[in-house]
Amino acid sequence: MIGVLFVCLGNICRSPTAEGVVRKRLAEAGLADVVTVDSCGTAGWHAGKAPDGRAQVAAQQRGIDLSGLRARQLSVEDVTRFDYVLAMDHDNLANIKALCPADSRVHVGLLLDFAGYRERVVPDPYYGDDQGFGEVLDLIERAADGLIEHLREHEQKRLERDQ
Ligand code: 4NP
Repeated sequence: MIGVLFVCLGNICRSPTAEGVVRKRLAEAGLADVVTVDSCGTAGWHAGKAPDGRAQVAAQQRGIDLSGLRARQLSVEDVTRFDYVLAMDHDNLANIKALCPADSRVHVGLLLDFAGYRERVVPDPYYGDDQGFGEVLDLIERAADGLIEHLREHEQKRLERDQ
């Protein structure tokens, strides 16, 4: 299994949205048995809580159910357990990197790198209006396609290597 972890600040808006979007698309792509996804926050303030109601509604409008997800905080084990740890913004990225041992082989980067953007971040929608949650989904959906394409190629190369 390839493990992909999405990371934001609170784990109630952006990263659970990314988890829900990518899980659905992996299932549609027939890769649900190959790639496992999870999400967490660099802060533990909302640990145990379901995603923000606005994130749930926005995702539901696109056929994605986030209601079963619960927030948790990023831990040291995450950077050894997962193959990809993908941040929504530069603060998250710096916090993830601070946990990585020097010999770490985990891929740590910005999620939107997979959307063909360089240095672009998923803006924090928490203090904004409902429209912000739609924009978060637009950005994440775009990155999801690029990420899944990357993982498919990665998996293909691994299979060829192991033959
Ligand atoms: P998230 O959004 O990092 O996308 O989950 C936030 C959620 C909560 C807070 C900030 C951002 N907060 O300050 O509580």
